[in-house]
Amino acid sequence: MTRPRVTLKLATSLDGRIALANGASQWITGPESRAEVHRLRAAHDAVVTGIGTVLADDPLMSARIEGETPDQPRRIVLDTHLKISPEAHILNDAEGGPVMVFCGGSVPVHLRDRIAAKAEVVPLNRYDGPSISLKSVLEHLSGDGIETIMIEAGGKLAGAAMRSGLVDRIEWFRAPMMLGGDSRSAIDSLGLERLDEAPIFTRISVAECGNDLWESYERAGE
Ligand SMILES: NC(=O)c1ccc[n+]([C@@H]2O[C@H](COP(=O)([O-])OP(=O)(O)OC[C@H]3O[C@@H](n4cnc5c(N)ncnc54)[C@H](OP(=O)(O)O)[C@@H]3O)[C@@H](O)[C@H]2O)c1
Repeated sequence: MTRPRVTLKLATSLDGRIALANGASQWITGPESRAEVHRLRAAHDAVVTGIGTVLADDPLMSARIEGETPDQPRRIVLDTHLKISPEAHILNDAEGGPVMVFCGGSVPVHLRDRIAAKAEVVPLNRYDGPSISLKSVLEHLSGDGIETIMIEAGGKLAGAAMRSGLVDRIEWFRAPMMLGGDSRSAIDSLGLERLDEAPIFTRISVAECGNDLWESYERAGE
């Protein structure tokens, strides 16, 4: 089965950081970049995030464009232990697209039932280490007719996607700000031991976006 095409969106400082060590992250990039992110959401079939981002930022993950009624992507949360609160904004917003929450197959039914009226809960029995398998999530989404997804997550899920070789494109918004090595990286450890194991991308465009830079990359060799 062909998997959906995967875009990874990054909104970082110049040194590729997404949040301070204490978690403060809003806002690193400027309003022009954030507006482009909403257009990118509308251009994808689904946006995917991790429970870390939901707990830290309580985002809506919908496409909001002033003066327009954009297409709304499905909204997907990866949450192995189903820690999402029934009160989370994403579960209580009628404007955005339908929400799917993927969790581990051993999550008890009473926990799934807490949010069942607000989201489709999809239990999975395949894991990447301690978390549900991103590859299985993509296979399931493909079966649902989803052809394009955009990952908007913290370093853990973005790193997992990169480690698994699942990232086809990167949309990177970079603000003229330095956050330093004590802040959080956009991509968690890849565990590389040789440079020739590093994922390689080809830059296909670069543009100014307000005070930020917007670079687009495609996986090399495709
Ligand atoms: N600037 C940006 O572009 C941007 C975008 C989004 C978030 N952020 C920031 O990122 C920070 C949160 O980062 P984070 O790394 O904690 O959150 P995250 O990457 O959004 O979520 C990580 C969690 O997702 C779950 N998960 C489920 N399946 C997974 C898989 N296959 N691989 C990896 N994780 C999986 C894991 O928890 P379980 O094992 O419990 O499922 C994991 O702890 C916040 O400060 C937020 O503001 C920045």
